[in-house]
Amino acid sequence: AADPRLKQILAVLTKHLHAAIKEIEPTQDEWFAAIKFLTDTGHMCNSWRQEFILLSDVLGVTMLVDSINHRRPSGATPNTILGPFYVEGSPHYRNGENICLDGKGEPALVRGRVVDVQGRPVAGATVEVWQTNNDGFYDVQQKGIQPENNLRGTFSSEVDGSYWFQTVKPRYYPIPYDGPVGKMLQAVDRHPNRAAHLHFIVSAPGYERVITHIFTPDCPYLAEDAVFGVKRDLVATFDKVDDQHLATEYGMPSPFLLVN
Ligand code: DHB
Ligand code: FE
Repeated sequence: AADPRLKQILAVLTKHLHAAIKEIEPTQDEWFAAIKFLTDTGHMCNSWRQEFILLSDVLGVTMLVDSINHRRPSGATPNTILGPFYVEGSPHYRNGENICLDGKGEPALVRGRVVDVQGRPVAGATVEVWQTNNDGFYDVQQKGIQPENNLRGTFSSEVDGSYWFQTVKPRYYPIPYDGPVGKMLQAVDRHPNRAAHLHFIVSAPGYERVITHIFTPDCPYLAEDAVFGVKRDLVATFDKVDDQHLATEYGMPSPFLLVN
């Protein structure tokens, strides 16, 4: 049976692709290079590397699709990119525990609150976090080098919605750039770096899930994130803490607002 939605999609894509080709006027060689690029991109896809997602990310399409599908009431915490390094079922920690298992980097305390859009605390919300180590790699990129589950964990919000944990200050790091997408970025003089961030998924029964980051305010790539994931509301405050073990503190710029 014919699929009317697919028919519509193909018609729109064809219209805009033809318009692009008319404007670009590619040579035969350029068009073959384009087909080769897509072929190479497909060949770079396997269980741990999805080069097409990377392509979607660096072209800003991932963020665009997300913004269409996750319109939030004003004041609610915005979503941003999930990225390829989320692992379901990370270890459970109690509030205050340390997720940094390799001891490298600048110690940091992260704390925030989970509240609903009316500002009421959400107790028992699941707060999943993950970030790179101080060398700019996720644990899953360095199996056997980093401790397993380094810098990822699952927390639960307290009765007042609060959660807090110890970690290290995130650093900027490059998205994988040893493939066709990396070559493309190089060819147009674009750097592969993501603004330093800490990933969050905050969820609670009966509420819309928030997939987001907090960004460090002083990262040199804050204004030019390789995958366009930065939103103003996601840039955290950053204060010194008067404790010899906790040099810095990150507070969520605003509480996580879950939509019900
Ligand atoms: C992330 C990494 C990527 O390689 C990407 O394309 C998008 C996001 C990340 O970990 O945040
Ligand atoms: Fe990341």
